[in-house]
Amino acid sequence: MELLSKTLDRVKPSPTIAVTTKAAELKAAGRDIIGLGAGEPDFDTPQNIKDAAIAAIEAGKTKYTAVDGIPELKQAICAKFKRDNGLEYTPAQVSVGTGGKQILYNALMATLNPGEEVVIPAPYWVSYPDMVLLAGGTPVIAPATLENDFKLTPEALEAAITPNTRWLIFNSPSNPTGAGYSRDELKALTDVLLRHPHVWVMSDDMYEHLAYDDFIFCTPAEVEPQLYDRTLTVNGVSKAYAMTGWRIGYAAGPEKLIGAMRKIQSQSTSNPCSVSQWAAVEALNGTQDYIPENNKMFARRRDLVVSMLNEIDGVTCPNPEGAFYVYPSIAGLIGKTSAAGTRIVDDEAFATALLEETGVAVVFGAAFGLSPNFRVSYATSDDALKEACSRIQRFCAELT
Ligand SMILES: Cc1ncc(COP(=O)(O)O)c(C=O)c1O
Repeated sequence: MELLSKTLDRVKPSPTIAVTTKAAELKAAGRDIIGLGAGEPDFDTPQNIKDAAIAAIEAGKTKYTAVDGIPELKQAICAKFKRDNGLEYTPAQVSVGTGGKQILYNALMATLNPGEEVVIPAPYWVSYPDMVLLAGGTPVIAPATLENDFKLTPEALEAAITPNTRWLIFNSPSNPTGAGYSRDELKALTDVLLRHPHVWVMSDDMYEHLAYDDFIFCTPAEVEPQLYDRTLTVNGVSKAYAMTGWRIGYAAGPEKLIGAMRKIQSQSTSNPCSVSQWAAVEALNGTQDYIPENNKMFARRRDLVVSMLNEIDGVTCPNPEGAFYVYPSIAGLIGKTSAAGTRIVDDEAFATALLEETGVAVVFGAAFGLSPNFRVSYATSDDALKEACSRIQRFCAELT
């Protein structure tokens, strides 16, 4: 009998992790590698948050907790939704899990039946389609093209909805493009959803606080209160508070859904790490002052990367509203040949040749469902970014 389940045939391992692993191997072999693949801030978790975790350990808060979060963290999350988004939730409407990833997975596992569809705008975060497949559902990809600044149009959303649609997964600012929807752009989408009462929205707001210039973040339940009863608003501490390793994500939504997610978590991982939960209480309740400071730095890095990439013939790089990614198109380079003789047949060939010939690690666009592009994560030092972009410029200039 085959050892592995048939479900596994439907999914692939995370390509972003594969790129990071390949870059690490080359580095270990002595190559000069600059990694622009990782999806995490390059700075340390703020001291007040670390101190709260140390205090929790000293106080013996090291035992099992309530499955989907301690009351103190649920309170802090309710206060956050009120403060930042004008949304009223009670602790019974809140779920805390081991990262935003587990929250999204629980929600899909709790709601999807075979054949039910989830609309996912592409380019998408790599895990959405595979999570839907693991949960037995069917991903329906709706294109969000460069011409529309990588944002889903109301027409494309309307065209993707069928009687079998259960969810739209909405992500702003986006991984991998950094695109952030204005209130008007989001309202145009929620208007479509109002016409389809069987469709729910899973709003992945993980990059809420990473927003630049005059962009104002908004989320579906805030923009269209009529959607409140069919929206799961997902967020977490990983990105804004540089807490990727602590693994705390959360969501708020209708109690029935939150209860179903709790049931799944109770039979899989139980509570998220108790110490991390206390750290997250401090992240949400403590000072938020470093967020605008970090954003100044991220905006400067974004400007640097966008301008250097746009200097390249054959590359088009939009200037996104948030997150720490850009998603340049390499349409003008397809069909060319690199200095070492690799034909750039697609964006995967581009990323592979770039890594092998220059030591710069990026993730190819096909991994995110829209080609020919590549994703740059600019959550690294200015010097590394300058050097990486110069290498990309030289690599592209040598293409024939
Ligand atoms: C869009 C998006 N959603 C969710 C997550 C998951 O975050 P967490 O680290 O909290 O699981 C990520 C992480 O890369 C992400 O980019």
